[in-house]
This record gives sequence, C-alpha cells and structure tokens, in this order.
Amino acid sequence: EISNEIQDRCKELILGDDQLKEVMKRLTDDINKGLGKKTHADAIVKCFVTYVQDLPNGTEKGKFLALDLGGTNFRVLLIELGDNHFEMKSKIFAIPQHIMLGSGEQLFDHIADCLAKFMKEEKVQKEKLPLGFTFSFPLQQLGLTRGMLERWTKGFNCSGVIGQDVVQLLKDAIARRGDIQITVCAILNDTTGTLMSCAWKNHDCKIGLIVGTGTNACYVEKQKNAELFDGQDNGSGKVLINTEWGAFGDDGQLDFVRTEYDRDIDEHSINPGKQLHEKMISGMYMGELARLVLQKLTKEGLLFNGKGSDPLFTRQRFYTKYVSEIENEPHGTYNNCRQILEELGIKHASEQDCVNVRYVCECVSRRAAHLVSAGIACLLNKMDDPTVTVGIDGSVYRYHPHFHNLMVAKISNLVNKHIKFNLMLSDDGSGRGAALVAAVASRK
Ligand code: BG6
Ligand code: GLC
Repeated sequence: EISNEIQDRCKELILGDDQLKEVMKRLTDDINKGLGKKTHADAIVKCFVTYVQDLPNGTEKGKFLALDLGGTNFRVLLIELGDNHFEMKSKIFAIPQHIMLGSGEQLFDHIADCLAKFMKEEKVQKEKLPLGFTFSFPLQQLGLTRGMLERWTKGFNCSGVIGQDVVQLLKDAIARRGDIQITVCAILNDTTGTLMSCAWKNHDCKIGLIVGTGTNACYVEKQKNAELFDGQDNGSGKVLINTEWGAFGDDGQLDFVRTEYDRDIDEHSINPGKQLHEKMISGMYMGELARLVLQKLTKEGLLFNGKGSDPLFTRQRFYTKYVSEIENEPHGTYNNCRQILEELGIKHASEQDCVNVRYVCECVSRRAAHLVSAGIACLLNKMDDPTVTVGIDGSVYRYHPHFHNLMVAKISNLVNKHIKFNLMLSDDGSGRGAALVAAVASRK
C-alpha cells in the first residue's frame, strides 16, 4: 500500500547485500591501512591503539570518579567497586552551545567546575581520587593517560584543542581552580567504556559499539596486527583498537552509496567532508535525513497534496526520536505519526500520507542499521573468533524499536557462517567502564 512513486524515490536508500558486502570489503581495507605502520598516517579509518589492555576481572575495588563527555549528556560520576558489585552516583550537567563552539579553555574550565561542584555535593572534595575520563572523540593516544585530539566530531568545535593532550588540558583547568585534586588514571573512548563495562560481566565481549549521537566501534585485535602498538605486552597478545569508523568514506569510498540527502547533510554540517559514514548512520543526523526526503517528496507533490509547512521545511526540525516514535506502532496505526505531523503543522495528512511517511523513516533507519551491521560483520570476520559478544550503547540502538532485530538479521546474513555473535545492550554507559579502566590501571 506504499505508493509506487514513493517506493521508487526511496530505492536509493535501500542497500542490497551486494552493496553491503562491498562496503565491508572497503572498510576491511581501510582498517588494515589504519593498523599499518606505513599506511597509518594517511589512513582514513584511524584505528587508534587505546592502551586499555587488561579487561576487568571483577576483583577491582575502591572509589573512583569518572567524566563522560561527548554523547547526549555530559556526566560526572562517583563509583564504588566491591566484590562483584558496584554503586554509582552520577549527575548530568549541561554543556551550553556557546561552550561547545567556544575555546578549549572555556570547555575545560566548565568541565572542572562541574567536577568540583559534584565532588562537593558528594563530600569527596578533600580526597584525591583516581579518575577515568571518557572522552568520545578521536584521540591519538600516547599511553593510557595521554591523548592528542585528532579532530572534533558531532556538535563540538572548540578552538585550540586539536593536537593537544586533553588530559593535560583537564589537569590545567583543575590547577587553575586549586580547590580539588584528582589523579587521572585513564582517558578512553565511549566505545572502550562500553566494551569494558560489558566485559566485566561477559567475558566474550570483544567489540564495543556506539550508535548514538555519533557512531564508532572498538574491538580486540591481535598485537602483531597493531603495528603502531608500542606499549608493554601484558601477556595476552591482544590490544584494543578504537577504529573511529565514523570517518570511513571521507576519501570517497562511500560515494557509491551516498545520496543527494547525504550530500546535503554534509554540506550544511559544521564539519563538511568529515565523518561521512557517521552522517549516514547516527542520531545526530537521522532525523534530518528523514526530513530532507520528506521535504523533497512534498515539493514533488507526492506527500500532503504538495503542501508542506514551515517546520517541515526547517533544518533540524524533524528529530531523530520522531523516527523511533513513528516506527514504534503497529503497521496500520498512525497515532504517533499524526501527532508528530501535527507538531510540524501538518494537519491535513491522509492515511496514505502516514503510510508513506512511515516508509521513509523505515528506509532511513534500516539503511543505518544495515551499514552498522556491515561494519560489525566486517570486524567479526576479521577477528575470526568463534563466539563474540558485542556490547552496544547509544540512543539510536537503545530507543529505536527495530534496530536490534534489524542488526541481528543483517549481521547473520553477512558474517562468516562459523561465527556466533550476540548483541548486548550496555546497562549504564561508559561511566562504569571509565571507572573500571581507572580501577584496572590503579590495580598495578
Ligand atoms: C553512553 C555514554 O552510554 O552512550 C555516552 O555514557 C556515550 O558518553 C553514549 O557517548 C552514546 O550515546 P548518545 O546517544 O548519548 O550519543
Ligand atoms: C564520534 C567520535 C567517536 C565516538 C562516536 C560515538 O564518532 O569521533 O570517538 O566514539 O562519535 O560517540
């Protein structure tokens, strides 16, 4: 009952298995370039070594602080680890837009300010606690407590930070205040935090995946393949690699599947030409992608009798959560859909319009789920372990009603047949992961 013209217009958003296999092949090549000593400098998919080596074993103990920056929420956490249990207190602080786009000094002063407030509230301002810093941006790491920012991604663009060691910037900001003391034990990516957090309970967990504001994955690689690893061998022969796959496609490798909507998103973003894979997938862009398709179809007269509305034609006005809400009712029921359209000032939608709007949302979210699946299948095949659990977090995976099932189905199609995989939602984000990394690091 989806109208033929709509199906026809949306065809370019549907990726067949042949195209997804081609994506896998190209991503595999790019990951290998990122890992290689000679090819890393020019590689698009950076595959940064994380220096997080030892997985937690459940015996970690003590009080730890954590910072979690780069997703929907900036959080400060206090975590107490005991025998196989943990307690966690956390507080969300806002990062105003002017700080996201301001100077690095302003950003780190703000972070230190939130940390100090939290420590006072929790009455630990007199203690010098170990801290794990989840910093969800691409870092060139020089050990567990040194990381140079390679580029800003998502909504951040603070001046004077690229090429700097962000741990040092945090320490400097804390020193400028002088009222609190901490020991930074580790800096890590949210993918790493998610992996660690899941690995605490599930020892098969060897991939950490985020499908949230941005998208990225980290995985356990053999040390001999990570040519840039210069840390100490811990006896496992394994290293954790932060792929930063959001940048995949920045050299044109995804042009064969990108559409005019993807080009539009990119051109109007704060980082044109960058993070092209991420822009086809993650929550920061999914709603806008759907809106661009709806806008075009409306202007062609294929939706709402050709009559749109100002909000529908306004950038960023179709939220990613709308996609989830519209797909979160049985086919044939359009209460959410109508309500959202009304919020957008469209009161004259017909039943057929609703069918079509839902279809557009499905095409956009399925494409995202399928691209992520291709990425995971690529990692699973590359690792070639018989069983792997993937620890996953992020608002898109968490709240989209079909994302998990779409991924299970598609990965099953794409992965080598002898590999068994499991997709596991992370319970409490990278916060616990950061504390665990800090704990493992301070165990020594
Ligand atoms: C959370 C982490 O679990 O997942 C965040 O604690 C992380 O820091 C996030 O970035 C990803 O999800 P989102 O949707 O908030 O970007
Ligand atoms: C962006 C960041 C990456 C992070 C991801 C998910 O891609 O560059 O570091 O893991 O978003 O938050």
